[in-house]
Amino acid sequence: MNPTFTPLPETITSLPPDEIQRRIAEARRKLGREVVLLGHHYQADEVIRHADFTGDSFKLAQIAARQEQAHTVVFCGVHFMAESADILTSDEQTVLLPDMGAGCSMADMAELDDVEEAWKRLTEMGIDEMVPITYMNSTAAIKDFCGRHGGVVCTSSNAREVLEWAFERSKRVFFFPDQHLGRNTGHAMGIPLEQMPLWDPQVKGGAPDEAYRNARVILWKGLCSVHQIFRIDDVERLRRDDPERRVIVHPECNFEVVQAADLVGSTEYIIRQVEAAPAGTKWAIGTEYHLVDRLAHEHPEQDIQGLSKTRSICPTMTRIDPPHLLYTLEELVEGRQVNPIHVPVEIAEGARTALDRMLALKGDGSVGTKDSRHRENVA
Ligand code: 13P
Ligand code: SF4
Repeated sequence: MNPTFTPLPETITSLPPDEIQRRIAEARRKLGREVVLLGHHYQADEVIRHADFTGDSFKLAQIAARQEQAHTVVFCGVHFMAESADILTSDEQTVLLPDMGAGCSMADMAELDDVEEAWKRLTEMGIDEMVPITYMNSTAAIKDFCGRHGGVVCTSSNAREVLEWAFERSKRVFFFPDQHLGRNTGHAMGIPLEQMPLWDPQVKGGAPDEAYRNARVILWKGLCSVHQIFRIDDVERLRRDDPERRVIVHPECNFEVVQAADLVGSTEYIIRQVEAAPAGTKWAIGTEYHLVDRLAHEHPEQDIQGLSKTRSICPTMTRIDPPHLLYTLEELVEGRQVNPIHVPVEIAEGARTALDRMLALKGDGSVGTKDSRHRENVA
C-alpha cells in the first residue's frame, strides 16, 4: 500500500469531542440511506456508534456485497477491508476510507513479488500440487494472485471450511500472510506441526526442500503484532490465580496461547460466546482492546477483562477517529469524496474470483446481517 495522507483542516481538529459527535450525526442525517457506514469490531466506541452495520471482516464483506441502495460505503476499518468492499460492490458505488493511514502491518508482510518468487521456487522443487489461500488481511494484489492460481480467500470465521475446500482439490495449501491462523486451523484439523513448515520471505524459504515437499500446509511467516502481545505466561497466571475464568482468544494468537485457551474464534465468535454466557461468567479475552473494553461495558453482569495486562491496541484501526470520520462525511455532503478506494480492474477480477469462492462456501443465514447491530440512525 502506498498511502497519501491529507492533513485534516484546523476547523475540524480544533472542535471539541461533543461537537464532533453532534456534527457526525447531523452529516449522517443529511446523507440519508444512500451512504452506508460499516464498522469493524476493533473500532473505538466514538466511531462504531455511527455505523449502520458492525461485524468481523467476513460479515462486513458479505454486507458490502449486498449494498444495492447505497452509492457510497464509508468503511470504518482498515485498508484491506475497504479494498475488498470495493471489489464486491458495483462500479457505480464508491468505498471511502476516512484515513489512508489505516493499513495493516500483517497485510504488508506478504508482498506480491515475494509471493510470486516463493511460488516459483516451490514449483521448481517439484511441488506442483498446491492451492494458495490468503487470509482476508492481505492486499488486493495477493487476493488476485490466489484467484488466478485456483485459490481462495479466508477469514478467521471460515478458515477451516476454506482449508477443507482446498484439500478437496489438492493435497497441499500455501497459506498467507498469517502463520498463526494457518497453523492453529491446520492443527485443529489434525495436521501435525511438522507438516506445516514456515516459508520465510527474507531468506526465500528457510526449511529443507524435503519439508516443503512433505507439507500439507506451507505457512507464510507473517503475524499480527497486536495478537502477539498475548503470551502463554498470561494464560498460566490466570489458571493459577483465577481458575474459574474462561480464556477466549482470536486465532491470530500464537499456537501455545490457542492450545491453552478454552475457546478460540473470530471477533464475531467471541461476541456470540459472551452474549450467550450466563451472568457471573468470568472471561479473559485475547483480542484487540477496543472490542474487549466494549464487551466489558455492554455486559456488566459478567466479569470481563483482557488476557494481557498490556492494552492490545491496533494502531492502524485507531487511525479512523471521529475527526477523520466527520471530515469524510461533511466533504461527502458537499459532493466531494475523501480517499476513494479504487482497486485497479486488472487486479480486481482475480481478487473477486478468490473472494466469491469464499463467499459461496457459507449461505447467507449462517453469518449474515441477522447478528449485526443494524442501527437506524439515518433519518
Ligand atoms: P476478524 O474480523 O476476522 O475477527 O479479524 C480480526 C482482525 O484482525 C481484523 O483485522
Ligand atoms: Fe492488522 Fe492485527 Fe490490526 Fe487486524 S489487529 S488490522 S491483523 S495489525
